[in-house]
Amino acid sequence: MKEIKRIGVLTSGGDAPGMNAAIRAVARTASYYNIDCLGVRRGYNGLINGDVTELDARSVNGIISSGGTILYTARCPEFLTEEGMKKAVCTCRYLGIDGIIAIGGDGTFRGAKDLAEQGIPTIGVPATIDNDIASTHYSIGFDTACNTALDAIDKLRDTMQSHQRCSVVEVMGRHAGHLALYVGIACGAQAILVPEKTLDFDKDVIEKIRDGIINKRSHYIIIVAEGVGNAIEVAERVASQTGIDTRITILGHIQRGGTPTARDRVMASRMGEFAVRTLLEGKTNRVVCSVNSELIDIDIAEALAMKKNLHEKMYETSKIMAV
Ligand code: F6P
Repeated sequence: MKEIKRIGVLTSGGDAPGMNAAIRAVARTASYYNIDCLGVRRGYNGLINGDVTELDARSVNGIISSGGTILYTARCPEFLTEEGMKKAVCTCRYLGIDGIIAIGGDGTFRGAKDLAEQGIPTIGVPATIDNDIASTHYSIGFDTACNTALDAIDKLRDTMQSHQRCSVVEVMGRHAGHLALYVGIACGAQAILVPEKTLDFDKDVIEKIRDGIINKRSHYIIIVAEGVGNAIEVAERVASQTGIDTRITILGHIQRGGTPTARDRVMASRMGEFAVRTLLEGKTNRVVCSVNSELIDIDIAEALAMKKNLHEKMYETSKIMAV
């Protein structure tokens, strides 16, 4: 096993609040163990082009509280080609990078696995607002995204209440409904539409609003996960079937920005540190996972093969809360 003297850290795929805190944790842990740390810019592009910057303990001062990623991020089609991979491996060898910490989601981990297969040790750190990585209960950025969405919905509630309207709010999550479920419970939504579940629209949405009208309810909030793919249609159906004045809000990329919450900063710090230690233990092709609040590492291929289900009990709770 080759001694690790210099590591690289990169962020790839969609950014997530807390990525900077994770970069900081990697740089500080490297410094603690007296190894060099290079920040690789624009995800795997930076490995292909040799676009790196030195990170020491002090150069990451003050970034724990900032959203986005100081290393920039990108999706990198060239990295999927044999040529691109060869260039990335050459860069690692040329710059003396003995291991890579890759911060991101499933796509990032696929890249890390490919790199590990070419002999470059890699460790993945989960960061995505979608929280859809099956091997870990938690991914960096999820808590901040939930709170950002909630903040916006609380504001929407004020105006919906004043006008006695229905607000249909689309939240991100790609193909998964985890973000929608959390946000929906936390804002007291009347209905939560997620791709993992089929609702009886007339019973679970329309009838509830009609009941609300009879009981003089002042407003309604319906959360639609983007993976459901029909927020506009939902709003149109609600308006035409209930007569309630309805407005649609697509929260979009606002959910990816902002100051990370305490939870995201702490998780990012723990996961970044754990990733460096895992690399120093001589492990490769592993992803850091939070399981019942403890950190463990799992083989990336195994992690990628796992399927994440929606939290059943939480979904039941959401339905009971919306009676
Ligand atoms: O994976 C994070 C995410 O924000 C998803 O929720 C969303 O579907 C997607 O990225 C948007 O990607 P882009 O930034 O390329 O528009």
